Amino acid sequence: MIGGGQIARAHVLGYCSLPLLHGLDSLKPNFSIIAEINTNLAKQAAKRLGFEKWSDNWKSVTRSGNVDLVDVVTPTHLHYEPVIDAVDHEKHVICEKPLATDSKKAREMYEAAKKAGIVHMTGFNYRRLAAVTFAKKLIEAGKLGKKIYQFRASFQEDWGANPKMYYTWRYDAVKAGAGALADLGSHVIDLARYLIGEIKMVCGAQGTFIKERLLAPNKEQSNLKPPGKGKVDVDDSTMALLRFENETLGRIEASWSAQGRKVSLEFEVNGSDGSIYYNLERPNEIKIFTNDGSVDQQGFRTVLIGPYHPYGSSMVFPAPGVGLGFEESIINELYELVRGIEQEKGSGVTPSFYDGWKVNQVIEAIQNSNLEQRWVNVPAQ
Ligand SMILES: NC(=O)c1ccc[n+]([C@@H]2O[C@H](COP(=O)([O-])OP(=O)(O)OC[C@H]3O[C@@H](n4cnc5c(N)ncnc54)[C@H](O)[C@@H]3O)[C@@H](O)[C@H]2O)c1
Repeated sequence: MIGGGQIARAHVLGYCSLPLLHGLDSLKPNFSIIAEINTNLAKQAAKRLGFEKWSDNWKSVTRSGNVDLVDVVTPTHLHYEPVIDAVDHEKHVICEKPLATDSKKAREMYEAAKKAGIVHMTGFNYRRLAAVTFAKKLIEAGKLGKKIYQFRASFQEDWGANPKMYYTWRYDAVKAGAGALADLGSHVIDLARYLIGEIKMVCGAQGTFIKERLLAPNKEQSNLKPPGKGKVDVDDSTMALLRFENETLGRIEASWSAQGRKVSLEFEVNGSDGSIYYNLERPNEIKIFTNDGSVDQQGFRTVLIGPYHPYGSSMVFPAPGVGLGFEESIINELYELVRGIEQEKGSGVTPSFYDGWKVNQVIEAIQNSNLEQRWVNVPAQ
C-alpha cells in the first residue's frame, strides 16, 4: 500500500473481510509493506493496519519482489508516478479516484496497464454498493422501459462550508486537478457512465466560495499559530448539464459546501416506463416506480436490499434492509479486484483505469465549459 491516510484504513478493512465474507481462502491477503512519507504515520500505520514492513519511499513497494498487488491511496498528484512504476514492474494495481490530475496522465496510466496485461482498478467504490449494482441490472433488463430519458445525480457534503477548515491538497488545483468536482463529482460521473453510458457533451458552472484558507500549524512546533494562508484555486461546488451519446439528458452536482449534507450521494433515473431513486443516506433501500397503467396505485415502492440482491450472499447478517453501507462498497470493489487477479482477467475488471481516464475527460470538459461559458464536447477517444 502507498499512503497511510484515511482511505488506507478502509481498504485494509476491505481486504481483511474478503476471506471472512466471501468465503474463499485464496482471497486471504498478506500485508507486505506500506509506504508513507510521514515516517511517524508510516510506523503507526504499519502496526495498526498489520503490515510486515514500512518505508518512506514508495519505490520500496512498487519494486518489492514480495508484492503482487499495489494499492495507491495517496493524494491525486501522487497517483501517476507510483502507478506507472508499479505497472512497469508487472504488479496489479488499484488506484484511488480520480485516477489522475488530468486526462493525459490518466490515459497514459490506462495504456501502460493495458499493455502490461495486469489487472487495474480505479476506486469508484459506489458502483459496488448492492443497491447501485441492482439498479444497473434493472436498467439493463429494461424494467424502466426501452429508453432512459433522464439521469440526475448529486453528491453533497458540508465540511468545506467551514471557513476554519485548514488548507490541504484538496484545495490546490495542481495537486487535486479540481475541487468538489474531482473529489465527489468523479464518483457521480462514474455512476452516470455505469448506469447510462458515455457522456457526449457538458455544460458546467463552478463556484469557489471561500477563496483562501489558513495553513495548518506545524504540530512539531510549540507555537501552534497557522503559518499563513493558502489560495483556493478549485471549485467548492459544480453543477453541470449532460447529454449522453444515447440521447439521455442528465444533470449532476458536486459540492462540499452544502450545510447539513454529510455524505448525501443520490441519483434518479427516469425511463420510458419507470424510475429508480437512491440516496446513500438510506443505503439499504432503493425506490422503484414501474408504470402498470393503474390510476389508483401510483407512486414509488421502497425495496429493501438484502440477501437476494447483488453481493447478498456475503452479508454478515442476511436480513433485508439492514447493515449495508460504505464499507460493503469497498469490500465488494476489492472482491472484484482480487477475484479478477485470480482469474487473470487483465483489463476485464471494472471500474478499470479506462473508466478512470473517461471520468478525467468529463471533469476536464466541465472545467473548460465553465471557463468558456458554453457547451463542450467530451472527446470520444
Ligand atoms: N473512494 C472513496 O470513497 C475515497 C474517500 C476518500 C479519499 N479517496 C481518495 O483516496 C486518495 C487519498 O485520500 P485520503 O483522504 O486518504 O488522503 P489523506 O491526505 O488522508 O492521506 C494521504 C496520505 O498519503 C501520504 N503521502 C503523501 N505523499 C506521499 C508519498 N510521496 N509517498 C507515500 N505517502 C504519501 C500522506 O502523508 C497521507 O498520509 C485520494 O485520491 C482521494 O481522492 C477516496
